[in-house]
Amino acid sequence: MDDCPQASSRRYRGGVLALRDRKKETLTIKERKMWEFYLPTRIIFGRGSLNRLGIEVKSLGEPILLVTGKKALRESGILDRVSRILNKEKITSVLYDRVSPEPDTEVVDRGVTFARQNRCKVVVGIGGGSAIDVAKAIAGLGLEESFASIAEYLEGKGTKRINSYGLPFIAIPTTAGTGAEVARNAVIINRNTRSKRSFRSNYLFARIAIIDPTLTVDLPQEITASTGIDTLTHLIEGYVSRKANFLTDILAIKGISLVGESLISAYNNGSDLEAREKMCLASLLGGVVLTNSGLGIAHGVSPFLGALHGIPHGVANGILLPRAIEFNLSSSIQKFKSVASALGEKIEGLTEKEAACKTLSAVERIVKELGIPQSLGEFGVKSEDLSELAKKSLTSNSTRGNPREVSYEDLLLFLKKIME
Ligand SMILES: [Fe+2]
Repeated sequence: MDDCPQASSRRYRGGVLALRDRKKETLTIKERKMWEFYLPTRIIFGRGSLNRLGIEVKSLGEPILLVTGKKALRESGILDRVSRILNKEKITSVLYDRVSPEPDTEVVDRGVTFARQNRCKVVVGIGGGSAIDVAKAIAGLGLEESFASIAEYLEGKGTKRINSYGLPFIAIPTTAGTGAEVARNAVIINRNTRSKRSFRSNYLFARIAIIDPTLTVDLPQEITASTGIDTLTHLIEGYVSRKANFLTDILAIKGISLVGESLISAYNNGSDLEAREKMCLASLLGGVVLTNSGLGIAHGVSPFLGALHGIPHGVANGILLPRAIEFNLSSSIQKFKSVASALGEKIEGLTEKEAACKTLSAVERIVKELGIPQSLGEFGVKSEDLSELAKKSLTSNSTRGNPREVSYEDLLLFLKKIME
């Protein structure tokens, strides 16, 4: 088979549509006979659902630790609203507003100490994915007796695991993108090892996720774009992942169609509440999907573009996703045909390959309309940086879940393509 008409001209070994991938697809189908699905988080979804926070947190204990970013929630007035909701129920709280967009081990370690000093009984994370991830990690480690640093618990170099639930944790997202409110991992940078890794456990799931679409209407355009394309990447990578299953397939394809219906509208008109609500649903579905099916090569690389070159997670995924689709097309022709249809592409009368290729052109168009760069060129990444990026990305769980087998040489070529 030939490449899609719009595919990059550089070729992977054996061509983009390699025979070994069709063999791999057969294996994957066999592996899919047994599967698991787990989601212990109670979800409260809807406009105005933030008002439920006081009643929900009251039964869990106090004081609560409120974890958020440094200024966005203060400036938007959401923090004042949270204070009024808690005051109404006479709930005491302490604020930890030290989270920056790319959180590191230090902000988590300080947060655990702060929670202990204030004898907090519950952790509430409110904000984007970074605030929720830091809150999740603080809650998970809050009761660990021998705790010294989260670095000891991160995948890769860390050797410690948690064996029970920590402090009760409530997640309140104010962006529609990461799905962190229903995911069992927190992604944290370790500056000593120059890596960005997950702290992952079934004991990290939020007790409750409160998802109020009205909290997302004031998001700036660039955040709507980067978090929205992150959601689409979760859904597409989760849909074609080796661990995808019956339930994640249903959720992923619904989430992809919600993104197709609403992301550009939410970007162009932030106050379009219907579009915002659909993106919140898509983000939720993306979080459930990635937790149960894993991800792929784009999420294998994007954390290291963040850790080594400071490229925001969503922007990195926006650059990577078209090339990831191109790389994986041969391994999942049927699924990419379904993705194209879910994104609203007309596929009647097309061959399977032509229909699958419509996913690539649709995603490239979305990335362009969102104003996301299409290459790494403007981020100062140099060709001599690619070897370290490829080596680190090869060790990622997401890379291992990619539907098409990924070698070091494949990763180097993949990275060269996004430099162009
Ligand atoms: Fe992501």
